[in-house]
Amino acid sequence: MKYKTLKGLQDILPPDISVWQQIESTAREIFRTYGYQEIRLPIMESTDVFIRSIGETSDIVEKEMYTFLDKGGRSITLRPEGTAAFVRAYVEHHLFNNPPPQKFYYMGPMFRYERPQAFRYRQFYQIGAEAMGTDDPRLDAEIISMLSAILSTIGLEGLNFEITSIGCKECRPDYIAALKAFLKDKIEDFCSDCERRYKLNPLRILDCKVPACIQSREGSPPVIDYLCSECTEHFNSLKENLDLLKVPHSINPNLVRGLDYYTKTAFEVSSESLGSQKAVAAGGRYDSMVKEFGGPPTPGIGFAIGMERIVPLINTSDDAPEGPDLFICPLDDKASEKAVLITEELRNHGLRVEINFDTAVCEQDTLYL
Ligand code: HAM
Repeated sequence: MKYKTLKGLQDILPPDISVWQQIESTAREIFRTYGYQEIRLPIMESTDVFIRSIGETSDIVEKEMYTFLDKGGRSITLRPEGTAAFVRAYVEHHLFNNPPPQKFYYMGPMFRYERPQAFRYRQFYQIGAEAMGTDDPRLDAEIISMLSAILSTIGLEGLNFEITSIGCKECRPDYIAALKAFLKDKIEDFCSDCERRYKLNPLRILDCKVPACIQSREGSPPVIDYLCSECTEHFNSLKENLDLLKVPHSINPNLVRGLDYYTKTAFEVSSESLGSQKAVAAGGRYDSMVKEFGGPPTPGIGFAIGMERIVPLINTSDDAPEGPDLFICPLDDKASEKAVLITEELRNHGLRVEINFDTAVCEQDTLYL
């Protein structure tokens, strides 16, 4: 075989594709009931869009982006995630002028140059949702409840919903100071990336996957202990509203997101059946990104579901794919002309009809009706 899919990429073929389509149509239907509208965005953006938002010291920006110069010498990146591209479009098209909350969803491929392993791909598909224009914690609860509705309607059970708050620009400096103080004596044990991160963005040390770094940061203070009163109130209200909506959840003070843009609410949904890549969906609030992209201060919150991680969790029946409603077998060339027309007409009436063009085969094997 001369050509193969690239490492970390996969073809999605029938019959598997029917599970993908079912998930997509369930998600679309639930998005409709919550007032989310679809948007379709390009799969590539100026590299800066991602650096500015995801963060220069994040793993995604430092190691995982597919970045290249186009023929005009511009730095272009295949989107590693949807939120930054979405905010670029939100600001570019002045969508903030519509009455809030404005709610959007998208589906499509993302690209990260990660080490491929089970449930981790270099091209993977997300279903994402973003709600803009209010920082009311009831919206946070609503969007998590919507995510729960999507995942349960497609048949996923036993998922863990973990939430936390990672504070805002008011309380974060205090937390960073406390974290730096805790990590100060451990710098020598860090990987070279984390040594650098200690100065530039110590929060990213919490996301490092190197075993020595994981060990050295053990016992570090959780950000949740350093929230300002506004963030504490916001988080308490989120929890109350999740209880009201009966969304089972737990608080994980050590939940760390791999993207820098989050403020306040962050959450992750995981399945123990997936091993180390157990996050099936994740998201959070990003209240400063629109302003950083040149728009008016506008809060936002969203999530993305990883398709490759939910498809294997869905019980599919082994039923053979549905056959045609009618199979037409003309017995000679003259009959074939008529049969083609009849076939088209039946299809126009919504029947699934197959026609065999090889009259010789038809003559031998036909079931005469
Ligand atoms: P994320 O946590 O980077 O968040 O990705 C969301 C989900 O995408 C993950 O929970 C996982 O299911 C899936 N995923 C990520 N990387 C891979 C991979 N290499 N292979 C397979 N699946 C993967 C975001 O992308 C944010 N944009 C979510 C968000 C939207 N936050 C606010 N709005």
